[in-house]
Amino acid sequence: MSASDRGELLRAPLFHTPRNPFLQARALESHWDGGLLIRAGRIAASGDFETIRAANPDATTTDLRGGVLLPGLIDTHIHFPQLRVLGGLGRTLLDWLEECALPEEARMADVSYARQIAGGFVHALASHGTTTALVFGAHFAAATAALFEMGAKSGLRIVSGMVLSDRQLRPELHQTPDSAYRDSSDLIRCFHGRGRLLYAVTPRFALSTSESMLEVCQTLRREHEGLRFQTHLNENVREIEEVAGLFPWAPDYLAVYERFGLGGRGAVMAHNVHPTQSEIERLAAGGTAVAHCPCSNAALGSGLFGLKRHVEAGVRVALGTDVGGGTGFGILKEALQAYLLQRIAPDGALLDAGQMLYLATRAGAEALGLEEEIGDFQPGKAADIVYIKPPVDAPLSAVLERAETPEQALAAIFTLAGAESIREVRVEGTIVYK
Ligand code: GUN
Ligand code: ZN
Repeated sequence: MSASDRGELLRAPLFHTPRNPFLQARALESHWDGGLLIRAGRIAASGDFETIRAANPDATTTDLRGGVLLPGLIDTHIHFPQLRVLGGLGRTLLDWLEECALPEEARMADVSYARQIAGGFVHALASHGTTTALVFGAHFAAATAALFEMGAKSGLRIVSGMVLSDRQLRPELHQTPDSAYRDSSDLIRCFHGRGRLLYAVTPRFALSTSESMLEVCQTLRREHEGLRFQTHLNENVREIEEVAGLFPWAPDYLAVYERFGLGGRGAVMAHNVHPTQSEIERLAAGGTAVAHCPCSNAALGSGLFGLKRHVEAGVRVALGTDVGGGTGFGILKEALQAYLLQRIAPDGALLDAGQMLYLATRAGAEALGLEEEIGDFQPGKAADIVYIKPPVDAPLSAVLERAETPEQALAAIFTLAGAESIREVRVEGTIVYK
C-alpha cells in the first residue's frame, strides 16, 4: 500500500454538523480528541482519534492539537469586482451602488485590472477559510473568465457567472439580451463543470434586468444541465418600490423571477430582508435558498433579517459576506454578526454554536446542491478542511485553553477567530492556503 492509500490521520478537536441543527437535536458532532482520516482527497473516517487510529494503524498521523478542525467554510453571496470598495460606509443600497460599487465594476472592462483583482479575491477567500464560494462575476465576459481562471488556479470551489443587466445601472455595464446570451453560453461551455468550477446564471437584480434579459436567463438554464442561479431579492425598501414600478403585473418582488422560472434547487437569492409571508412560503416550497448577509444588511442599513420566519417556514438559509457591501471575507465573522443581530431583532432567534457552524458550512452546501460532496466530515465527502489555530498571544488562545466544553470552544472561535487564526486550508485534501 502506498502512503496515500494508507491515509493521513489529522489529530485535533473537530466539529461538524452532518445534520440540520434547526430541525434536529444533537446535530453538532464534536470530538475533543478528534481524528480525521483523509485518503485520496476524501474523508475516510471522522470521530475519536484513538478509535480511528486503532482501525487504521498504518495511517500517518499529523498532530494538530492546539488548534481545531472545521469543514471548509462556504460563502453563498460575494461580489469579486467589489474587493476594493470594502469600507464604503455611510450609504444605503442604491446610493452605495451608484457612488461606490458601479464605478469600480466599470473598471473590470480592463481585463488586466480584473485579473489583478481576481487574484487578490481568491487569495482573500482562502486566507479566511472559505473553500467554496458563490460569486457574482463581472458585467464583462473576459473579467468573469479571469475570475474562473484564478479560481481554477487557486484550487477553491468557485461557482460564478457573468452579471447580467440591461437597464438602470450605467451604460458601460449594460449588455443586450443577445450579447448576454452569447457571452454566457461561451462562458458556460468553457467553465461549467471544469474541475471544481460551476456556472451560475446571474441577473444582477430585477431593477437592472428587463423581461427580455430574464428570458435569456430562463433559456440558459433550460439549455444547460446543472447550472446554478443567483440574484438579489427584497434587500432594500426603496429598491422594492422601484421594482414594483417596473413590473406592475408582479404581485411582489419574487414573482418577477418566478415568471421566468428563476428559482428552485440550486438557486440562491441574496438578502430577502423585507419579504411578504407569501414570498417566504413560495421560497420554501420551491427549494430556493436565501443567502443571509448580516454584515451587509447592517452596513447598508438594509434592515434586520427574519431568520426565524425563514427557518420556521422551511426556507434554506446560508451565509454570505456580500463583499463589498459587507465588511470583509470572514464567514466566521458573518455567523457572529448573524448571532448578534438576532439577539437584538424583535422575535430574533437565539443561535447556538452548532447552528452557527451549520450556517457557515453545511447550509451553504445544501443551498448550492453540493451537500453530497461537501459541508461536513462524513466519510465519503471531499476533504475540504479549515485548520484554526490562533497566534499564541491572541485572546482566543487563552480562551481555548480554559474552554470546558466543545460548545464553549466553538462559540469562542466564532467570537474571536479572524484571518490571523486560519492556519491551513485544504480542498479535497490538497493544501490551498497555509
Ligand atoms: N443589489 C444589486 N446589486 C447589488 C450589490 O452589488 N450589492 C448588494 N448588496 N445589493 C445589490
Ligand atoms: Zn450582493
